Amino acid sequence: MHSAPGAPRPVRPEPVLSATGLDAGYGSALVVRGLGLVAGRGEIVAIVGPNGSGKSTLLKTLAGLVPVRGGTIVHDGVDVSAMPAEHRAKRGIAFVPQEREVFASLTVRENLVMGGFALGRKALHEALERVFGAYPVLARLEGSHAGRLSGGERKTLAMARVMMASPTVVLLDEPTANLAPIPSAELLEREVPALARAGATVVLVEQRAVQALAVADWAYVLVAGQVEIDGSAREIAGRGDIGRMFLGARASNQGADEGAAGAESVR
Ligand SMILES: Nc1ncnc2c1ncn2[C@@H]1O[C@H](COP(=O)(O)OP(=O)(O)O)[C@@H](O)[C@H]1O
Ligand SMILES: [Mg+2]
Repeated sequence: MHSAPGAPRPVRPEPVLSATGLDAGYGSALVVRGLGLVAGRGEIVAIVGPNGSGKSTLLKTLAGLVPVRGGTIVHDGVDVSAMPAEHRAKRGIAFVPQEREVFASLTVRENLVMGGFALGRKALHEALERVFGAYPVLARLEGSHAGRLSGGERKTLAMARVMMASPTVVLLDEPTANLAPIPSAELLEREVPALARAGATVVLVEQRAVQALAVADWAYVLVAGQVEIDGSAREIAGRGDIGRMFLGARASNQGADEGAAGAESVR
């Protein structure tokens, strides 16, 4: 990992989740290699990079869904590298996957209740009040079946559902995937910051790099499973060579669906 040249680095809040020398992958192939990352308390940390660069694999490794092959993951001062996903979830690491994130046949309220399944009656009631307060759009849709919501509303529900358990970290995998530009912008400008305001540290993987950098505090550019560069989101957004990093990775990354996605990513 190397950082951007120039001004001294901004001071960051204390780490809530950090990875050091992280290796992870599938079968004999390592996808994430020697990766270092820090997410500080209350930050929105963006992970951007071309298709196939290992962003989803990284999030799944942090969540405990892909095993750690080397290095460590520390959450709130505890090494969770070998901890199963459900134990990490109980500790406060929430994961919102890219797809199949809500129960379509249940109502908005029922989905939220599922997210608070471990809570007692009183705490569940309080959590519902809190989440409906943070996401007024869901309060209006309380009785609607999740399957009838728009894509943006469904994503908001998925985020709100994990907030029922008051996580300290929310890992978000491409919340704007398959959303049109306007709902994507709303989600990134309004609903993602609401997670941080509610007290969670957010690790946001996004294809819409420019928009993700606009709401993030810190950013990591991932290329071929390694951190190509990290810095304040503002500084990364202002660099002229981000497009080249995406396009360069595309040229050296001949995977099936990579195609024009590298170029698209720099929107
Ligand atoms: N379940 C899997 N089994 C084997 N290889 C996988 C699996 N998931 C992803 N990969 C491979 O890992 C690499 C990184 O994928 P991924 O983490 O999904 O990247 P990104 O989210 O940045 O698009 C790709 O080459 C992909 O083909
Ligand atoms: Mg992905």
